[in-house]
Amino acid sequence: MQRVLTGITTTGTPHLGNYVGAIRPAIRASRDELSESFFFLADYHALIKCHDPALIRQSSKEIAATWLAMGLDTEKAIFYRQSDIPEISELNWILCCSAAKGLMNRAHAYKAAVHTNEEAGEDADFAVTMGLFGYPVLMAADILMFSAERIPVGRDQIQHVEMARDIAQRFNHNFTEVFSLPEAVVGDDDAVLQGIDGRKMSKTYNNTIPLFLAEKPLRKAINKIRTNLLEPGSPKDPDDSTVFQLWAAFASAEETARMRNEFQAGIAWGEAKKQLFELIDSEVADARDQYWRLMADPGYIESVLLQGAERAREHSGRMIAKVREAVGIGAIR
Ligand code: TRP
Repeated sequence: MQRVLTGITTTGTPHLGNYVGAIRPAIRASRDELSESFFFLADYHALIKCHDPALIRQSSKEIAATWLAMGLDTEKAIFYRQSDIPEISELNWILCCSAAKGLMNRAHAYKAAVHTNEEAGEDADFAVTMGLFGYPVLMAADILMFSAERIPVGRDQIQHVEMARDIAQRFNHNFTEVFSLPEAVVGDDDAVLQGIDGRKMSKTYNNTIPLFLAEKPLRKAINKIRTNLLEPGSPKDPDDSTVFQLWAAFASAEETARMRNEFQAGIAWGEAKKQLFELIDSEVADARDQYWRLMADPGYIESVLLQGAERAREHSGRMIAKVREAVGIGAIR
């Protein structure tokens, strides 16, 4: 049995890039009999970069509804909200006391903030919170709490998983072997979708296509995807096209081969986009209906998350007891 764990920061609306890069592979993997999946809403992590409570609340609801609508089997996978597991914040503190400050100094997210400040002539630590600085420790707590072995993440998160390993090793060395060592699993680069402007699809670039747009806005968003000015009839390079990349992310191998030929035969952009809309719409239509039903029933979403938290806490309760014992915290005896 292999334990897989990943968190989703609750600061945005799920888009096609999240779906292809993270949600779809995670849900598929969770059906594997030989693995046990832990998926959670990383709402504590959301506080690091977002101080808008309404946005965090809305995003938590949207992300939970998305995973459920896409068919996550919550009988099998453990699906919960980070903030429902109080043992995580306790472990976060205990790990803070084993994590070297020098290690945190090297974290990309923190270094990027310092770099931006320096470029702007500000104090190096301007607007840097302890939350940002300690981000990798909280992530280590998420992972080590459940003895997770495989951590599917984007490239930008590999360093954090490695830091979780470092922190685990140091703790195991200082006390007793409590933690197993996690490993990052990075999807292939084909799974990183381009946004409508051709750069990586990301909320940061404001170039996303939300996953559950209604039909009309979905069609509109697809029509806005940037293309070159080649006329109908002139051959187009599929490997240099966001339209084709999106096509390949949703189509079967045969359909992808067919579209490749159509590109070479000079398909009109309008026609390619029309077919792309139909393809994506057919894959998401049922889930979209389910998504809107769920969004109208927050009580149901909440009950699923609370059940997930109950199951997660069976693990976290045992783990925190071991950790407390290892460090010497607890009842006088
Ligand atoms: N920091 C991750 C991200 O922004 C989300 C996350 C939080 C996470 N805790 C985690 C991912 C633990 C994997 C494991 O993508």
